[in-house]
Amino acid sequence: MCGIVGIVGNQPVSERLVEALKRLEYRGYDSAGVATIDAGTLQRRRAEGKLVNLESRLREEPLAGTIGIAHTRWATHGAPTERNAHPHFTEGVAVVHNGIIENFAELKDELAAGGAEFQTETDTEVVAHLLAKYRRDGLGRREAMHAMLKRVKGAYALAVLFEDDPSTIMAARNGPPLAIGHGSGEMFLGSDAIALAPFTNEITYLIDGDWAVIGKTGVHIFDFDGNVVERPRQISTAAAFLVDKGNHRHFMEKEIYEQPEVIAHALGHYVNFIENRVVPISDAIDFGKVPSLAISACGTAYLAGLIGKYWFERYARLPVEIDVASEFRYREIPLSPQSAALFISQSGETADTLASLRYCKEHGLKIGAVVNARESTIARESDAVFPILAGPEIGVASTKAFTCQLAVLAALAVGAGKARGTISGEEEQALVKSLAEMPRIMGQVLNSIQPKIESLSRELSKCHDVLYLGRGTSFPLAMEGALKLKEISYIHAEGYAAGELKHGPIALIDENMPVIVIAPHDRFFDKTVSNMQEVAARGGRIILITDEKGAAASKLDTMHTIVLPEVDEIIAPMIFSLPVQLLAYHTAVFMGTDVDQPRNLAKSVTVE
Ligand code: F6R
Repeated sequence: MCGIVGIVGNQPVSERLVEALKRLEYRGYDSAGVATIDAGTLQRRRAEGKLVNLESRLREEPLAGTIGIAHTRWATHGAPTERNAHPHFTEGVAVVHNGIIENFAELKDELAAGGAEFQTETDTEVVAHLLAKYRRDGLGRREAMHAMLKRVKGAYALAVLFEDDPSTIMAARNGPPLAIGHGSGEMFLGSDAIALAPFTNEITYLIDGDWAVIGKTGVHIFDFDGNVVERPRQISTAAAFLVDKGNHRHFMEKEIYEQPEVIAHALGHYVNFIENRVVPISDAIDFGKVPSLAISACGTAYLAGLIGKYWFERYARLPVEIDVASEFRYREIPLSPQSAALFISQSGETADTLASLRYCKEHGLKIGAVVNARESTIARESDAVFPILAGPEIGVASTKAFTCQLAVLAALAVGAGKARGTISGEEEQALVKSLAEMPRIMGQVLNSIQPKIESLSRELSKCHDVLYLGRGTSFPLAMEGALKLKEISYIHAEGYAAGELKHGPIALIDENMPVIVIAPHDRFFDKTVSNMQEVAARGGRIILITDEKGAAASKLDTMHTIVLPEVDEIIAPMIFSLPVQLLAYHTAVFMGTDVDQPRNLAKSVTVE
């Protein structure tokens, strides 16, 4: 995580650097800083907390200079204080870093033994001290940079300023992304192309092991061994989007309400609404022939994958191996090179997901990426890209990206079923017809459930623990509900398979703990109702999210019932996501938390 920007040009840079940081705040927001070289001297301003604090610091003490680097931090090593905020300075060297220097403790001991005095608790500061030491040893700037890169281990996107060269930024990438922007008489550096979009759309992406020397009029790129390399210059489609909440209080609310529109847009890419057929998407992966599918992702994206597994297995009879990416990458899973793998990621930059992708690539599998960011590293390293077309998601808690991931996975599963002959042409048409109904039903639900959800959320906001239960595709959705609630309201919540209740969690049931049961009237409904009986018998307070048929059939004394329209099974997870998301949202609003930027989180997780 953390966001990096740099500008080398002819005009003052500090305001523009902060503007670019605003578009990177999704990568972390616990402190920020800017460094420039003004009249031959390195200067910096740093501030704890959100970017607004850095902005007011800069208003009090502006920074001049036409070259600069800047950083927004998600703390890994060292508390999020001003002292630990980047850029780090030592002896005429300034460094900003995204990633983790894994051997920093060893390097710190070695440098301290040589007399280096460390000012911070960060891993990054060793980079500044190593560079300073190599300069003292007599190396030139480029040689010092190369020597430093040979010593550090781990993941990094780095930007460096040397005080004695006010016309060059040096940069390096190993893991987290780094984009170089080409301007006219000015050059830019950023963690992604979106940060640079207001300045330029001509982008060169560094690849792992690359390092670069960036001047006003161009860039020289080297590989890890120091050989000059060429990397393609491409036109980025990343838009300099206006970060605008419209009439909504939070981005999260706006993004929840955008879902009918973005889902319609996403589906339009995968299905033909006139013939009610899925459209062929990619030649790179033959879903008709692959013997199995591996799926890996993190957090909410993983839960989307888990729902996808139900669909691929049910509709395409395609066995799916799925795991969270942080386990997948290290499990040494035996994989067949004839298989394919899907990686699901909103940002397309999640470190564990990318590592799992590379593991599968090494094993010869065809790689598909279900991503929102089409220019991301995960997209670029995949054989087939399946965009979810959700548009920029600013709220840290994922909402519209989740349902768009689901819509895409549903369409892919139906397409796979067709290619494998496990569903007939009529079944395909019926499923696609259901998918096409989704935006309309979502709009209807969003227009009707708000008052009910608000009154329920007021009660939830007084609780300490909440249990979510579901069966079939409602089980991953129960986990997603729990994840959403805990990340934005900080209320402890767990999602369980309803059938697992009696194997442990039932011990928690008492009159203080609400149990949210997600149960459309599907083939699991009666079984879930039995599990609800078990909760009710122990005095548990049930909030049932069901459909009209389910509400009529359950006849249970529930605390509350949220009633949705009856929908086909394939679209139920997307429709039932809406009350689940809104419950978490309104509960957090009642609690007064920072809904869009909850504590300790970041939108893009580029460290493992
Ligand atoms: C939760 C959430 C996270 C992300 C996870 C993966 O609301 O957003 O759990 O889903 O960090 O991120 P991406 O999809 O960018 O790989």
